[in-house]
Amino acid sequence: MAKPVLLVTRRLPASIEALAEQAYDARLTASDVAIPDLLARAQGADAILCCPGDVLDAKTIAALPASVKVIGTFSVGHDHIDVAAATARGIKLCNTPDVLSVATAECAMLLLMAAARRVGEGERLVRSGSWAGWAPTQLLGIGISGRRLGIFGMGRIGRETARMARGFGMELHYRDVTRLPAELEQGAIFHDNDDSFLPLCQLLSLNAPGGEGTAHWLNRDRIAKLPFGAIVANAARGTLVDDEALIAALRSGHVAAAGLDVYSNEPRLNPEYLTLENVVLLPHLGSATTETRDAMGRVVLSGIDAVLAGETPSNVVA
Ligand code: DGY
Repeated sequence: MAKPVLLVTRRLPASIEALAEQAYDARLTASDVAIPDLLARAQGADAILCCPGDVLDAKTIAALPASVKVIGTFSVGHDHIDVAAATARGIKLCNTPDVLSVATAECAMLLLMAAARRVGEGERLVRSGSWAGWAPTQLLGIGISGRRLGIFGMGRIGRETARMARGFGMELHYRDVTRLPAELEQGAIFHDNDDSFLPLCQLLSLNAPGGEGTAHWLNRDRIAKLPFGAIVANAARGTLVDDEALIAALRSGHVAAAGLDVYSNEPRLNPEYLTLENVVLLPHLGSATTETRDAMGRVVLSGIDAVLAGETPSNVVA
């Protein structure tokens, strides 16, 4: 029997490409950049395996061939896909929940610490060759231990971030739509409004999903409610941040430093960030560990397999 056809939009870890080739007539690509001709290459495909940054909007989904039954995204976030449009076409969507929570939370902690301890400036100083040696007043940062951390979005990644932050003795506050049960909250303090939450956040980690509901959540008004000198980290989605407002706050010092892994309009981030010393910039590395990317590949492929077998996998989004 002929294998189902799987169209893959970017190069995948070798072990995952091998798995894909076992089960599918896999249309792979050697490029890390999305294939430019998705619609043409999707002709006759049963499934598409896409990635964050591949925009599958309503127009693209409407133009997909009728053969496509499932889209799997190599990510937990699916704000790059118009879910309603896929559902309207009877196309199922799967993602990669759980397996990247630890890696992404590690990245959130890394960003908080790198921003607070001025890691970017330190690295640039050493690399510039102009470091003159240890000095009592050199690049003084802010310690994170024992400070108050606010987490916006206490889902799986937010809760992992909280677990790690407890190791630093941080006092944990979180803002979300609903309060978690006590066994998940683990002592973190719930806030149902920004006015009680934001003024407490000496450090703020954004861990909410992207999409319309959270677009530009961190705007000028909310930044004004943070304590002066707050540290901000974003390992979630760039769309959560109003870049102009954050850049203005980084310039004024209202936000002392920020660590960003994600951006609106990736990879073309707001160029003003590049002019600021007090922002640490990573290229969307949240889930980028070998074991995590392998696990993500296995999860998304298992979801695609299940949908094509007429089953409903646990990682089906819609
Ligand atoms: C996700 O899974 O949504 C991440 O952003 C990719 O690492």
